[in-house]
Amino acid sequence: MIKKGIILAGGAGSRMSPVTKAVNKQLLPLYDKPLFFYPLSVLMLAKIKDILIIVNKGQVEQFKKVLPNGNSLGIKITYAEQEKPKGLPDAFLVGEKFIHKSSVALILGDNFFFGQSLTKKLIECTNLSKGAKILLHTVKNPSLYGVASINKKKKVISIVEKPKRITSNLAVTGLYFFDNKVINYSKSLKQSKRKEIEIVDLLNKYRSKNELSAEIIGRGGTWLDTGSIEDFNNTSNFVATIENRQGFKIGCIEEIALNNKWINKNQIKKAINFYGNCDYSKYLNSIISK
Ligand code: G1P
Repeated sequence: MIKKGIILAGGAGSRMSPVTKAVNKQLLPLYDKPLFFYPLSVLMLAKIKDILIIVNKGQVEQFKKVLPNGNSLGIKITYAEQEKPKGLPDAFLVGEKFIHKSSVALILGDNFFFGQSLTKKLIECTNLSKGAKILLHTVKNPSLYGVASINKKKKVISIVEKPKRITSNLAVTGLYFFDNKVINYSKSLKQSKRKEIEIVDLLNKYRSKNELSAEIIGRGGTWLDTGSIEDFNNTSNFVATIENRQGFKIGCIEEIALNNKWINKNQIKKAINFYGNCDYSKYLNSIISK
């Protein structure tokens, strides 16, 4: 059972400059809440209660203003700073002490997932006892992502980062599940041409040992990107469309904590006090008034 998770919320956000010059991208509003609430809710839906959030140097205090620790959610949140962006597997080096002897999930702070069977799939993924698991999703423009080819038995045949020649439409989403070997494997990675350690190299280490499996998020599920201003805006509009149609909020971390029975109505009341008079608080109030 995977009980620990890391949210990698660092990065320069250079594709979204100038809006990311002064503020971490993951603190920017994706419609009605900070972007990092969405990956956090994914880990919480996977019933992961021990979470490390990795941010850029000097940014911990900003994050703590929104989420000081996990008490309000009945979970444990630890923050760590990354000296500078060194590639995604650096999360396992920064998080070495946090992971300790456990297995771990990693979600990128700017990834958005939504869909009816998502929670079931996430919980299945946390059952991983050995090796690594990735989640794949069909996209029209795979060359923007890591791309995986799989065989009929869902075995991963190859993984390539942002390939020019497309051999598959299956993008590797930014949600990964690893056993404890991830620490040593990450330590052994060599820098690529762009002077970073690469997630595909890490995944290929598992693949070469026949220890990489894949799950597909089918067309009823949604995986969206927030890499560019346009993608960010589109994802924001997606959330607005669904929330205003259904009246439910996506990525409401207090609601998930309540549904998981990690907190009670009193803690929701405290959250309402903390957030003040806003639509988000009104929604929280509607949950406990049912
Ligand atoms: C990273 C990974 C890529 C993955 C993507 C998912 O790319 O390197 O393999 O498909 O995240 O969001 P980046 O978005 O950092 O360019």
